[in-house]
Amino acid sequence: MAVTTISLRPMTTGDIDAILGLEQAIFSHPWTEGILRDELAGRRRTYLVAEEGGEIVGYGGVMIVAEDAHITNLAVARAARGRGVATRLFLDLAEGALDDGAEHLTLEVRFSNLDARRLYSRFGFAPVGIRKAYYVDEDALIMWVTDAAGSDYRARLAAIREGLQ
Ligand SMILES: CC(C)(COP(=O)(O)OP(=O)(O)OC[C@H]1O[C@@H](n2cnc3c(N)ncnc32)[C@H](O)[C@@H]1OP(=O)(O)O)[C@@H](O)C(=O)NCCC(=O)NCCS
Repeated sequence: MAVTTISLRPMTTGDIDAILGLEQAIFSHPWTEGILRDELAGRRRTYLVAEEGGEIVGYGGVMIVAEDAHITNLAVARAARGRGVATRLFLDLAEGALDDGAEHLTLEVRFSNLDARRLYSRFGFAPVGIRKAYYVDEDALIMWVTDAAGSDYRARLAAIREGLQ
C-alpha cells in the first residue's frame, strides 16, 4: 500500500487561489474569493487545509454560533478521496469546536450526496429535517449531532482516529 503523509494546518489568505481552484472543480455553486476572505476573517470560525506532497488536497471549516458548531464546508480533491483526508479534517474541526465549548454539531448536505452522508453518519450525524431548495436545484438534508459534549462522543471521535492508522 502506498505510504501517504497527509498534514493539516490552518488555512490562510495565501491559500485562497488553491482553494478557489478546488471549489470550482468540485462544486456547481463554488464559493467566491469574497466568501473565502469573509470566512477567514469571521469570528469563531476555523478553516483547515490538508496537504499532501506540498499540495492542498482538501479543506474544511466550522463556525460556532452559541453552543452549535456548524460545519460550513468540507471538500477533497477527487484524486485524493477515499484515503481519510476528509475524516482527518473533520476530526480536527469537531474536536476543536468541542474544545471551544460547542455542544452540538450541525450541517446541511445535498440530499443526493451519499458519499458525504455516509461520512457524516460515521461521525454520528442524524438527519433531522429538510431545507427545501437550499441548493436552488436540490433540497438539503439537515443533520445534527445533538449530544456531542459528552465523553461518549469524544470516545467515538477517538475510535475513528484510531481506525485511520
Ligand atoms: C465527501 C468527501 C468530502 C469525502 O472525502 P474523502 O477524503 O474521500 O473521505 P474519507 O476518505 O475520509 O472517507 C471516505 C471513505 O473512505 C474510507 N477510508 C478512509 N481512509 C481510508 C483508507 N486509508 N483506506 C481505505 N478506505 C479509507 C472511509 O472509511 C470512508 O468510507 P465510507 O464512505 O464507507 O464511510 C468527498 O467525497 C468530497 O469532497 N465530495 C465533494 C464535496 C462534498 O460533497 N462535500 C461535502 C459537502 S456537505
